[in-house]
Amino acid sequence: MVIRILLVGNAAREHALAEAIKRSKHETKLYSYMKANNPGIAKFSEEFKIGSYSDLEAIREFALKNSVEFAVVGPEEPLDKGVVDALEDSGIYAFGPKKNLAQIETSKGYTRELMKEYNIRGNPKFKVFTTMTGIEEFLATLDGFVIKPDGLTGGKGVMVQGEHLITVPEALEYCNSVLKTHPAVVIEEKLEGEEFSLQCLTDGKTVIATPPVQDHKRAYDGDKGPNTGGMGSYSCENHLLPFLTEKDIREGLEITKDVARALYAETGELYKGVMYAGLITTRNGVKLIEYNARFGDPEAMNVLSLLKTDFVDICKAIIDGKLDKIKVEFSKKATVCKYAVPEGYPENPVKNKKVDINNIPKKAKVYFASVDNKIDSLYMTGSRAIAVVGVADTLYEAEQIAEMSIKKIKGPVFYRSDIGTKQLISKRIRHMNRLRK
Ligand code: AMP
Ligand code: GLY
Repeated sequence: MVIRILLVGNAAREHALAEAIKRSKHETKLYSYMKANNPGIAKFSEEFKIGSYSDLEAIREFALKNSVEFAVVGPEEPLDKGVVDALEDSGIYAFGPKKNLAQIETSKGYTRELMKEYNIRGNPKFKVFTTMTGIEEFLATLDGFVIKPDGLTGGKGVMVQGEHLITVPEALEYCNSVLKTHPAVVIEEKLEGEEFSLQCLTDGKTVIATPPVQDHKRAYDGDKGPNTGGMGSYSCENHLLPFLTEKDIREGLEITKDVARALYAETGELYKGVMYAGLITTRNGVKLIEYNARFGDPEAMNVLSLLKTDFVDICKAIIDGKLDKIKVEFSKKATVCKYAVPEGYPENPVKNKKVDINNIPKKAKVYFASVDNKIDSLYMTGSRAIAVVGVADTLYEAEQIAEMSIKKIKGPVFYRSDIGTKQLISKRIRHMNRLRK
């Protein structure tokens, strides 16, 4: 029996999801709803439709017209709009949380308060403010602070003292401007340590961690330059990271299990899909930076490249509430993902420039992100363009594959050559050793 599946999203993450679906032992037909034509996803799809993620009616119509059995939702935007609720109203269930559960990503204040109410460890000192009253006093109690608008900001609204804001008057001015456009502002203690992503699969009851991944947010080598959506990421063959202990992973998973339970207690609904914990290991153990209600981009490319279990079986088990019945396994290999981005990214990227990927060696996996496939060539549209992934027995080899492949991309692009290298990883280890001393 053919399984008909709706995929929502058009980034490299969804390209990797489409590939994971097509790798299934089941015969599948993929119907993709995208904001822009991603040629990698289109290639795997029986049919695709281009439209807005706010147009829930169009997504539902497309799903119904193609009689899909279930949906896989990649990005946060349609989750925030309530696409899972809209599909469920028509009897189509999804790998992805409903709108109220997606709040773990869409409202940082909600997540912090939920964890506090249910006594879940991992919160830094924090307070949520809806007016300016008390902000100055609270800032005075913190050694270092971070200010976050309460709502989706595309990773760009978070201000970290020392990196973006220095003085208290600057912080107050920023809070004031945030409160004009957002219902609340979250202020929290600045944590120091190494960040990692623990993407957990869940049906709302069972929570399974995928291998931890480290992303690189800064645009340039040596963690310099502006923040981006993520320039690349790596994972290790032992399913740890060089600066992490097994205990760190256990703690991250325990926090996520507790949050899944709290969400159910609070809403009476089961969270289905990915709870991506953005964690930081500090001298006082693991703390939560934020949750995302979806796979990470680029981190999806790391873990889906390693996934041995049939992804369609995982989706069905999650939707049916039977995740405890299957064994989710990952290859004991290392992965390195590097993104080629247009020159000038993220602030002033060149747009509508040709990018040529024809010389990338077969050894690497290639995923399309912000590109448009026109008749004559592939064009970059301004955001991260092409992701390449090396998978190998060791991190060294995986990095070599990614590096020699990304070099072959022709066009006005740049990338980080330090991701996954010994030099950068030693720096991370030294940083953690210094903190733990
Ligand atoms: P978020 O959108 O919450 O992931 O924040 C973006 C980035 O800001 C994170 O990846 C961290 O590097 C940084 N950040 C957020 N919260 C904190 C915190 N409490 N302490 C230190 N850095 C933080
Ligand atoms: N890589 C960060 C994110 O997907 O949000």
